[in-house]
Parts: sequence; C-alpha cells; structure tokens
Amino acid sequence: MERIDKLIASQGTLSRNDVKKLIREGLVTCNGAAVSSGAQKIDPQNDSLALGGKPLTLSSHIYLMLNKPKNVVSSTETGGQATVMDLVPEEFFRGGLFPAGRLDKDTTGFVLITDDGAFAHSILSPKRHVPKTYEVTVPEPLTQAEIQEIKEGLTVGATRFRPAELRFLHAGGEGQTYEIVLHEGKYHQIKRMFARFKKEVIALHRTKIGALPLDASLAPGECRPLSQAETALLQQEQPLP
Ligand code: URA
Repeated sequence: MERIDKLIASQGTLSRNDVKKLIREGLVTCNGAAVSSGAQKIDPQNDSLALGGKPLTLSSHIYLMLNKPKNVVSSTETGGQATVMDLVPEEFFRGGLFPAGRLDKDTTGFVLITDDGAFAHSILSPKRHVPKTYEVTVPEPLTQAEIQEIKEGLTVGATRFRPAELRFLHAGGEGQTYEIVLHEGKYHQIKRMFARFKKEVIALHRTKIGALPLDASLAPGECRPLSQAETALLQQEQPLP
C-alpha cells in the first residue's frame, strides 16, 4: 500500500504540492470515489486512479535524474562514505533503488537512479549504443594528433577504446574544456584516455545520457523523477561513429 500523493508525484509530471491541490479540488479519484487526502493509501496493483476523469496509468518503477556532486560515490553500499543513495529524498525512496552506471567519486553530473534492472541494462549494455556525453577539463590544449587519436579510437595498455566524438568548448581560468561523447563505458575511461597524452583530468561532468540532457535547474545534489517522454529519450541509441 502506498500514499496517493507520493505515488502520483513519483510518476514525474506533478509535484507533491500539485497533487495536493488537485485533491483539494476533488479532481483525483480512486475506484471512482473522490480522494479526500494525499495521505490515503492505495494498492497500486489493484486500485484505479483517475485525474480529472482520465485514468492514470501508473508505472511500477521509478526513474530519477540526479545531478551528482563531487565526493559522493555511485554505490548502494556506504563503506563509510556518502553515496548517491543518500541524496534521494524520502518521498522518492523505495527498496531496490540503485545507480544505473557509475561515475567516479570526483566526477559530477547526470546519474540515473532506478529500481528497474531491465531498463538500467538497456542503457548500459554494450550491445545497445546509448551514448554518454561529458565535459572534460584538462590544463593544456590537446594537439591535433591527440584529437585525431581520440576520434579514431586508441589503445592504452591492453585496452582498446572505441572512437569517441570530441569538440572544443571553451578555455578558461582552470584549463581547456572539451565535450566528449563515449559509446561504451569502461572503468575510468576518460581519465585513462587523457592519461595516454599525459593530460590530467581536472574536472569531469556528465551532461547527457542518450538524447536526454541533465536538467540545468537541478543544483548539485538535487534529483527529480523523469517523465515517460524523458525515459524514452534516455534510451535513444545512436549509430557508432
Ligand atoms: N570516465 C572517467 O574517467 N570517469 C568517469 O566518472 C566517467 C567516465
């Protein structure tokens, strides 16, 4: 059994306050009867909800977009450290949530947190080509030869990295920032690619998964549920370069 306000807000289109307002206006019904309080509990499997007379199809899963700050690990196990799970607000928290894919502790940006294992697999599997886009800052500009190598794919030790897309974004106080699009997700991939050119990564921020950009209104540490349209963008594949 789940609270109605929490359940509807977890679908990603309405906030808990929006839901409370709709309930006050008598626009939310459960099995045909008007709901009088957001605290009312229902069985999402068997009860039928409607908003303004329109049936509401509930997803049994939740998909959260987090803007990961630095110094937080992408794990469900604490090991004494702060994890991305600590940043999930109580209203969205439920059993079985996990981060779909890992960012390093010092990497910031878009992390998807979900309880849907099959969905997570669909965006992480190397058989699907869901690209991940990052902004990477290094102290010195890349040479033309280095840029070419990244675009053609490169070998570091025994590891072959697929071709990645790369473009220069801006130069600032701390260094040179490039946008890089990866079509695979190997351990410390970007840092290892840049280490090959003896370029230390001084900032790394994931801006996009598939065709879905990180919501610019999310401050570091904030998260929000995705709408159905957004989860579709997240799964968007792209042909390999
Ligand atoms: N590549 C890295 O080196 N680190 C990340 O967190 C993501 C991609």
